[in-house]
Amino acid sequence: MSARRLIIDCDPGKDDAVAIWLAAASPELAIDRVIAVGGNVGLARTSANARAVLDIIGRTTIPVFAGCDRPLLRVLETAPHVHGESGIDGADLPASATPVALGRGAVALVEAVMAADAPITVAALGPLTNLAVAMTLEPGLAARIERLVIMGGGFRKANMTPFAEFNIYVDPHAAAIVLGSGAPITLVPLDVTREVLATVPWLDRLAVMPGPAPRATAGMYRISPDLALHDPCVVAWLLRPNLFAGRRARVEVVTDDGPEIGRTLMQEGGEPGIDVLLEVDADGVRDLIARRLESL
Ligand code: BDR
Ligand code: CA
Repeated sequence: MSARRLIIDCDPGKDDAVAIWLAAASPELAIDRVIAVGGNVGLARTSANARAVLDIIGRTTIPVFAGCDRPLLRVLETAPHVHGESGIDGADLPASATPVALGRGAVALVEAVMAADAPITVAALGPLTNLAVAMTLEPGLAARIERLVIMGGGFRKANMTPFAEFNIYVDPHAAAIVLGSGAPITLVPLDVTREVLATVPWLDRLAVMPGPAPRATAGMYRISPDLALHDPCVVAWLLRPNLFAGRRARVEVVTDDGPEIGRTLMQEGGEPGIDVLLEVDADGVRDLIARRLESL
């Protein structure tokens, strides 16, 4: 079986970095391109970090495109308190010598998906600005995506405000466009990702592996105790969907200014339906990540 072509749209970000490494270590997936968005840190850093994350594992030929540097309507809010000023504090990666690819991220997304002879899978690990712009630019995009797997939202959990998760909160208007697009979507919310913590025994296991990626992962997570492996859950679902369970529902995003902005609301049976993951075998996901990263 040939590898599934994958575009990663992300804002590295510690967990984004681990997600990229998990995908790169998996022969079932072929990373076509990585597209950065302003999110955990500003766009200059997320694009440079994505480049450095690929370079450290020798994947210098995978292009990184810079996408949108700010949300559609709101001012960008970043998360240096979680990821550090660099976005990947503790990883200690050398700065990349490979330039970021020419061209805007949203355009590069449209071009890759529309030109492909077979539908491409997209992993969205940051605010959904690039995808919303791409879907607006190319109305046929949603129907051409094989599956769009999104880390975002929360139904019993929140992490940015009492109601909202970071990726959806940062650009709720983009999230409303994407979640209502009719694309085949799997949503991986905090309900799942907050269960998959980088535990001390798991970090100990990674720290003794020889390669640069597991060592950098241990370095990043040791200085952020209790941080969840949010974004790697997206890639883990692509690799081992049986580690997760969920249900089909329509998901709406609160876009009105006010305390609930960015909140995700689930309406069972509503259209367009998306697959919302709500349960996870956390040990299984941690073990999968560790086993795969061992080869990097
Ligand atoms: C999400 O927000 C970011 O800080 C993480 O990288 C992840 O994508 C979790 O809410
Ligand atoms: Ca992210």
